[in-house]
Amino acid sequence: MCMTQAEGQSLEIFSRWTNAGVWRNIALPVLPAIGKYYCPILKDLAMPTITEIADLKRLYRRRTPKMFYDYSESGSWSEQTFRENTSDFNEIYLRQRIATDMTERNLTTQLVGQDVAMPVVLAPVGLLGMQCADGEIKAARAAEKFGVPFTLSTMSICSIEDVAENTEKPFWFQVYTLKDDDYMKRLMERARAAECSALVITVDLQVMGQRHKDIKNGLSAPPKLTPASIANMMTKVPWGLQMLGTKRRFFGNVVGHASGVSDPASLSTWIAEAFDPSLNWDRIKQLMDMWGGKVILKGILDVEDAEKAAALGADAIVVSNHGGRQLDGALSSIRMLEPIVQAVGDKVEIWLDSGIRSGQDVLKAVALGAKGVMIGRSYVYGLGAMGEAGVTSALDVIHKELDTSMALCGRRDINNVDREILLVPKGFSGTFA
Ligand SMILES: Cc1cc2nc3c(=O)[nH]c(=O)nc-3n(C[C@H](O)[C@H](O)[C@H](O)COP(=O)(O)O)c2cc1C
Repeated sequence: MCMTQAEGQSLEIFSRWTNAGVWRNIALPVLPAIGKYYCPILKDLAMPTITEIADLKRLYRRRTPKMFYDYSESGSWSEQTFRENTSDFNEIYLRQRIATDMTERNLTTQLVGQDVAMPVVLAPVGLLGMQCADGEIKAARAAEKFGVPFTLSTMSICSIEDVAENTEKPFWFQVYTLKDDDYMKRLMERARAAECSALVITVDLQVMGQRHKDIKNGLSAPPKLTPASIANMMTKVPWGLQMLGTKRRFFGNVVGHASGVSDPASLSTWIAEAFDPSLNWDRIKQLMDMWGGKVILKGILDVEDAEKAAALGADAIVVSNHGGRQLDGALSSIRMLEPIVQAVGDKVEIWLDSGIRSGQDVLKAVALGAKGVMIGRSYVYGLGAMGEAGVTSALDVIHKELDTSMALCGRRDINNVDREILLVPKGFSGTFA
């Protein structure tokens, strides 16, 4: 068959276009641009591989509105204490041992008489229900299935009753040392009715440390709609859809429960006035007696305070600087742990929080004398990244790291871990005057 000249030219153009080289020239500049905009979305759709807490943090940052990411990922003022809480763990080394029997290892233990799968507790964290819809319920369920305690914050979005209705086993409840006695009594009654098995009294928040980002972001629950927050939330579609699907978007333990707080607008006035700057040890004792059950005092960073807390008869104390969110410039919790253990370790159970981001960190704290640890951000990252599955993932990561590191230090039982497994720099806990 004969071809006209025009047909011949068309065929040539067609064959040039179908030539791989041409397509390569088009693809080279275009694909990276497409990838830049769509890869995060595609990555979000794929099931991510999580091997460390930092993986969850990266996902969390991508999936959660900036206001709530910043709320968790910040410390007070210059953030020195916030940073040192984690970096100080890196100054302690683990002693590698070989040719010891590493079979049949055990991480189970007891914290204030309760069996736990590992010596880790989920710390009270406010606004979990803003990190993801129904966040407190999801975190509590993950903890329950894993076999570690979950502590519900007073400043939670889901109420005590919400969490109790959606879980099977008792959880713990946290209170601040607030002025309003009637409110405190009612809170404790509600916690007792929900069968909470321990009360965590946070003693390091008489006045509030300032976090710059929260002020600049105009942090609120539910989030205020500003052009900046709307623009940011539009990039967090799954978060937004889940939030629209829940009715739990206000402080569930406060709105409608504290006197004078019937709506979210009156809440900020209440918060500003609720904390008790005149707190003393008699008031702490009064609150302990008001509860009448197991009590953990959280937020102790000084030997003298630890002695007073032990003398009051607390079941446990948590060496903590509130994750670097209160007194900026205070020493990290891990530095203060050993002096406190030496002073009162035989009188009261001592735990640590602030800065734990791995199982190795848990091992170091236990080796320095902590009976257990609380984790805050490590599980918040998981919750914001993947909801309940993310919290489970955070616990899995820490469990695996703790188990393997303990074995490689030549130990098989977390209850027999001691300072012998560590190399601690001289003066780590201070030669401060
Ligand atoms: C976002 C956020 C909110 C918190 N809210 C509370 C709270 O409501 N009550 C409380 O006692 N502690 C609260 N904390 C402090 C934690 O209980 C815990 O002491 C701290 O997170 C431990 O440090 P880490 O996050 O480095 O593990 C909060 C911490 C964070 C990060």
